[in-house]
Amino acid sequence: MPGVIKFTRQTYTMCYPNVKSYALEKTKKNKALVTSGGCAINMYPSDLQYDLGTKSCDQRNMNRTMIIAQISDLHIGHEGKGKTCKNTQRLKTVVRTLTELRRKPDVLVITGDLVEYGEVWAYEALKEALSPIEFPIHMAFGNHDNREAFKKVYPDTRYTDGFFQYTLEDGPVRIIVLDTLEEGRHGGSFCETRALWLERELDKQPDRPTLIALHHPPIKTGIGWLSADPSDDWVKRLKHVISKYDNVEHIMAGHIHRAIFKSFAKTSLSVTDAIAIQSKLELADIDPDIPDGRGLFVDSRPGFCLQYWDGESFTTHSGQSPCGKTLIHFNEKHSHVVKHTMDIGL
Ligand SMILES: [Fe+2]
Ligand SMILES: [Fe+2]
Repeated sequence: MPGVIKFTRQTYTMCYPNVKSYALEKTKKNKALVTSGGCAINMYPSDLQYDLGTKSCDQRNMNRTMIIAQISDLHIGHEGKGKTCKNTQRLKTVVRTLTELRRKPDVLVITGDLVEYGEVWAYEALKEALSPIEFPIHMAFGNHDNREAFKKVYPDTRYTDGFFQYTLEDGPVRIIVLDTLEEGRHGGSFCETRALWLERELDKQPDRPTLIALHHPPIKTGIGWLSADPSDDWVKRLKHVISKYDNVEHIMAGHIHRAIFKSFAKTSLSVTDAIAIQSKLELADIDPDIPDGRGLFVDSRPGFCLQYWDGESFTTHSGQSPCGKTLIHFNEKHSHVVKHTMDIGL
């Protein structure tokens, strides 16, 4: 018989015949905190019901929530060595926003185009700009990056078969970071060697929720000059591998310099706004031989994503920094706003 924790509006009841070691406490905001062995598992709004099932303790811990912050397309050093770098200033703005969040991200994943020209000094500037961040930082390469220069600044970097691909196992969600860089080429690349590695990684834990991070989104977007071609070998190769697994919960990418949401290989895919300038939203067909005067990039605020894992699925939140002046705070005066929204005390 499966175990069930049921939360009602003001109280909660528990029924979990298979689980003996859970503690449940009600917190101030009428939510419940479920703990097992001192480890917080999840918080649920009132009126939610959660089925514990007959899962093992480890599997239950996998139901913990997780926040993966994502930034992309930093293009540090765009103006050249020794010049004031606008993109570094934009990065620092987003870093401030992330570090000021009440709930800090569990990890930051940066999905490529870390620097503009692949130079060592730019990676050093990147490292310095990221230094206020206290949660773990992991990176992927974009088409502007350089494997050798990166390794000089981050000497602990390990390349697998020559590629910067690795898996993060610490959280409730596995994060697999892919390398789609082919130096000298603007578009993406994903050769047989990289595909075989991905398949081996996915084979290791085919039931565990997995997030894939990469620079180039393997999708058509309607912005023709920045999109991948679905008939490209690298796109077909990536799609073939990911489609074989049901546990790839989400794919997150960069490169387009614009927030985009789509499905790919039977899962969801998001692209984050860039730290650097954003591409203009214009979906008219483009002829590379006819410059028609359209806008290509615009000077809008730097953006980021928070990939929120609720224990069962991802929600992608797209944010910009600065996020704007707060107009209403959750204080005594405005506590009714939250209660009213949550239909509490009606
Ligand atoms: Fe970029
Ligand atoms: Fe790129």
